[in-house]
Amino acid sequence: MPPTGAAEADVHVELSGVCKQFGAVRALDDVSLVIRRGQVHALVGENGAGKSTLGRIVAGALSPDSGELFVGGERVQFRSPREALRHGIAAVSQEAAIVPGFSAVENVMLGGEAQTVGIVRRRELRRRFAELTETAGFSIPPDKPGAAMSPAEQQKVEILRALTRNAELLILDEPTAALGAGEKRQLHEIVRSLVAAGKTVILVSHFLAEVLQLADTVTVMRDGRLIRTSPAAVESEQSLIQAMLGRSLDATFPDKQPPARDAPVVMSVRELSGQGVHRVSVEVRAGEIVGLAGLVGAGRTEFARIAFAADPRTSGEVVIDGRRARRLSPRGSLAAGLALLPESRKDDGLIFTRSVAQNVSIASLPRFARFGVLDFRAERRAAEDAMRRSTVSGRPAAGVGTLSGGNQQKALFARIILRSPRVVIVDEPTRGVDVGSKRAIYEMLIEFAALGGGVLLISSDVEEILGLAHRVLVMRAGRVVRELEGEEITESAVLTAAFEYEPDGRGEAA
Ligand SMILES: Nc1ncnc2c1ncn2[C@@H]1O[C@H](COP(=O)(O)OP(=O)(O)OP(=O)(O)O)[C@@H](O)[C@H]1O
Ligand SMILES: [Mg+2]
Repeated sequence: MPPTGAAEADVHVELSGVCKQFGAVRALDDVSLVIRRGQVHALVGENGAGKSTLGRIVAGALSPDSGELFVGGERVQFRSPREALRHGIAAVSQEAAIVPGFSAVENVMLGGEAQTVGIVRRRELRRRFAELTETAGFSIPPDKPGAAMSPAEQQKVEILRALTRNAELLILDEPTAALGAGEKRQLHEIVRSLVAAGKTVILVSHFLAEVLQLADTVTVMRDGRLIRTSPAAVESEQSLIQAMLGRSLDATFPDKQPPARDAPVVMSVRELSGQGVHRVSVEVRAGEIVGLAGLVGAGRTEFARIAFAADPRTSGEVVIDGRRARRLSPRGSLAAGLALLPESRKDDGLIFTRSVAQNVSIASLPRFARFGVLDFRAERRAAEDAMRRSTVSGRPAAGVGTLSGGNQQKALFARIILRSPRVVIVDEPTRGVDVGSKRAIYEMLIEFAALGGGVLLISSDVEEILGLAHRVLVMRAGRVVRELEGEEITESAVLTAAFEYEPDGRGEAA
């Protein structure tokens, strides 16, 4: 496709023949694409398809090996995000750079760099903040400190920050991956108001329903290549899946196989308390998948971390297979047969200085030691097998930081699988994972349970809970407020319990 150049006024950004190679991996292969002004243009594709790479090239964070980039008809060669911003392009990153001690106003107007300002300047900032939120069509309480912001609010800060810097095109890479249902809706509204204000949005998302609702145009990528670009109106979830995977996928969940009536309890958590968690009791039986539902901030992750002894407890106990861990530490929990798939792969999951295979095998090393010497080949083989089962695509010897976002998540999952614990707590196991790989993860969880393991599944994706859990506990404000079983497990029952009686009217219901 030859560049259409300045002739077409509504062309905002154009890529022509863009290639990007990382070692042996061709992340982008001759990609030519037109992004129109004032549209939401979605990018979809499997993990590792090249979506983020494309976004980063447009945002000036990466330069292409070959090919050209045009903004408003003008050829550009960005050497940094700053240069892209000068052309009105900003990426809204998922790991927002929020200063905890700064107010919303300061976080937005001053950016991520700490600095102090005088009273006069402060008033001026406030005024401009008010103007900005007025035109943007959404707001955050101006005095709210960064430390108290929900993930959705952090995203808002990032978006407002881009707008104060006069961004005309915003790149949102999986903006709703970490959001609960209510917050997702808010973010959708924001995207709509951005476009109504004439901005252009590039949206990367694995939620195909979201893509179909929000996007004007959808581009499907596979293995670094562009498969097709079409108006969203002519696509469906099935047509997108077909194009992404090159095959169709049965979107329904496998039939549930409930645990045997006399299945033993493999995990018993009694009256566990700690920061943000009040006397939570949970029992999981062999073969059982127990869902832990609730809003973002309900205390589910806190509960998981305290149960795993990654965070301190003030009272209560966790019993695995009838025994308490000898030591209250993650290592002690692992030794007792309890593993945790953490929510944040960046903060407490992956070791970025190590290879993919090492990250996968790290929790299972004792198994590969003979007479105190590590059998590297056995370790490597087992890690590769776990990677394959978890559909991690990427070279085992590569640095784990070179994996795409979804593949990093799957590598963590592979680590847990290899460890073969008695009970797993999985916290948002499919965050950032493409539809095909989600399916693989579901099947592994089901198989793990079928072989007698216990699963505690934390998920903000209600469908995932409904599709997998034999029993559902709903948490709110640090407590279990509802237990649902069998036929009782419906979307409305889960959501009603999650939203009910918000003590001070905060949270997503507001
Ligand atoms: N810095 C890097 N070094 C080496 N390889 C990289 C690097 N960044 C990306 N890659 C590789 O390029 C390919 C495309 O990655 P990219 O992050 O663009 O995928 P993606 O479509 O965003 O996937 P996901 O849905 O998992 O986020 C992958 O094979 C990835 O491993
Ligand atoms: Mg990505």
